[in-house]
Amino acid sequence: PVTGDAAGLTLTLTAGPTREALDPVRYLSNHSSGKMGYALAAAAAARGARVRLISGPVALGTPAGVERVDVTSADEMLAAVREAVADSDVFIGCAAVADYRAARPAEHKIKKTDETDTLTLELVKNPDIIATIAAETPRPFVVGFAAETRDLEAYARDKLARKNLDMIVANDVSRPGLGFGADDNAALVLWRDGLGGEGRRELPAQSKSALAEAVIDQVIARFRERAST
Ligand code: PMT
Repeated sequence: PVTGDAAGLTLTLTAGPTREALDPVRYLSNHSSGKMGYALAAAAAARGARVRLISGPVALGTPAGVERVDVTSADEMLAAVREAVADSDVFIGCAAVADYRAARPAEHKIKKTDETDTLTLELVKNPDIIATIAAETPRPFVVGFAAETRDLEAYARDKLARKNLDMIVANDVSRPGLGFGADDNAALVLWRDGLGGEGRRELPAQSKSALAEAVIDQVIARFRERAST
């Protein structure tokens, strides 16, 4: 039998970047390595949860006991998440999803021309995966991330409310040695207690695996509180 304080829970997590094709050989993306999301998946699985990890393209091995689905674009990530959350208790969106994609990805490689020195790309908005899941009924306990370079708490509170999340893990990605690609991270966790109140916990800089343990502690505690109210 599976033991641990998360035994019996099913978690779906996203991690890594998305890639949005411009043409057959180029894409728009970002510097997410997947380390934070994979550390969360490993921490939850080690505590007995069933973990479904929907991953963008990263160079990481699958943590022990985790079920992994690989995707490339935001559209593909949304489709995989929709399927996985149907029987999940908790959804954690740690992926750095591209907000925009090319309006019309070129069928053939875009050629450099001699006529002009500029190239204009038209972009269209991608679906907001976490807001889409949070808008559905029934829905899992929804935990978002907020990657900010200034006004961390204010922007995180705004995302918590606007995307209708239960909890948000805010990280200041301008701090040297933390955030995108780094081995360490720090976070400010904010949540709604389901009774009209709010909670707040500061988690100092530490390895992403230690931080993931602390975040999973908060997620499980808040999820259990919510389930019992
Ligand atoms: O992968 P690492 O190198 O370890 O770095 C970790 C990290 C910095 C990427 C991670 O800790 C982090 O902050 N992830 C969220 C990155 C992000 O896209 O943040 P955001 O503030 O732009 O988005 C807010 C929330 O909306 C996130 O939960 C995001 O997954 C979600 N989102 C955003 C856009 C979109 N189209 N769909 C979404 O679901």
